Amino acid sequence: MNTIGTLLRLTLFGSSHGPGVGCVLDGVPSGLYITEDDIQRDLDLRRPAASIGTPRVEADRVELLAGIQDDFTTGAPIVIFIANHDTDSSKYIKFRTVPRPGHADLTALNRYGDTVDLRGGGQFSGRMTAPIVAAGAIAKTMLASIGVQVAAYTQRLGCLVDEKERYLKDIRHASRENPIRAADPELALDMINEIMAMKEEGDSVGGVIRCLAVGLPMGVGEPYFDSLEGELAKMLFSIPGVKGVEFGSGFRSAEMRGSEHNDQFIIEDGEVRTITNNAGGILGGLSNSMPIDLRVAIKPTASISREQRSVDLERMEDTTIKVDGRHDPCIVPRAVIVVEAATALVLADMCLRGDFIAREHR
Ligand SMILES: Cc1cc2nc3c(=O)[nH]c(=O)nc-3n(C[C@H](O)[C@H](O)[C@H](O)COP(=O)(O)O)c2cc1C
Repeated sequence: MNTIGTLLRLTLFGSSHGPGVGCVLDGVPSGLYITEDDIQRDLDLRRPAASIGTPRVEADRVELLAGIQDDFTTGAPIVIFIANHDTDSSKYIKFRTVPRPGHADLTALNRYGDTVDLRGGGQFSGRMTAPIVAAGAIAKTMLASIGVQVAAYTQRLGCLVDEKERYLKDIRHASRENPIRAADPELALDMINEIMAMKEEGDSVGGVIRCLAVGLPMGVGEPYFDSLEGELAKMLFSIPGVKGVEFGSGFRSAEMRGSEHNDQFIIEDGEVRTITNNAGGILGGLSNSMPIDLRVAIKPTASISREQRSVDLERMEDTTIKVDGRHDPCIVPRAVIVVEAATALVLADMCLRGDFIAREHR
């Protein structure tokens, strides 16, 4: 399905090489102040950066078609359109017969048959994340109205890891000031060099994006099946290229002892807090008022310029494939704002569901 959310419902439409991509965001309370520039600012962060060897492309422009009037939400569904440009679909024809490793060509052909749109990856393209980012900017505004802030950064790129503990206030601006979206400007330089090296080798590299959300009140989540972790994971796994999601100490929890993993309680400024945050801000599927702390593993870009093994589906025999064109050797920096948006959309929906955000702004 192309719709996600319960009270804040996001529906995506469009495809990579059609007229454009967009979304309908329903359930946003009326009277919320949001300008086109606020949305455009986030969309610009998703743009590939030429300084890290990615192709220079025309900037996406957001078009607000409905639901926002004179910079205030009207309560009607918000409709956003982002036109496609510079699309050359000719090179995608051969992938219908010889599918690209790491892409959805083979699975989509099998599932939908010959009429499936595979131009530019069709509906499976990373381009579908542009409207997610636009909708996410609106979700962030909803969250800001109750004092919740969300920010993400590149924590790992290949073997280069930012080991430092980071706080939202530190990463918010830092991660926007370099094309890697790293919190540490020096590490960002090493990461740029790593991406350039991958480009030279005709290869690609993946990484980890960490996202923090602070200010979320205690009790957000709808257990049993709509736990906060479950809803976030579902949304985050919808982002193309995501191969792992973990909360707090995540998979590392398996090697810890209870005495080490338990986040012990203290009273701080009259509030119940925990000394550590191994739970990633979620206990029993409900927020516990500590920062939501999640990590998303992104695989290395599937399109690489090296020759790879594939199959000829007409002849049913082995063959090789070389994916021509300009390639983005790492999608992690572009996916940072996508993870931020996806997280904000889920948190805003869950806040509406738990009545932490009023359904109508008054
Ligand atoms: C913002 C963004 C941009 C992407 N750009 C590319 C790209 O340029 N080349 C590529 O091979 N994959 C790219 N991807 C990932 C592919 O769309 C994805 O790996 C592919 O559709 C298969 O889906 P899966 O990895 O989720 O199984 C991008 C993903 C995102 C989130």
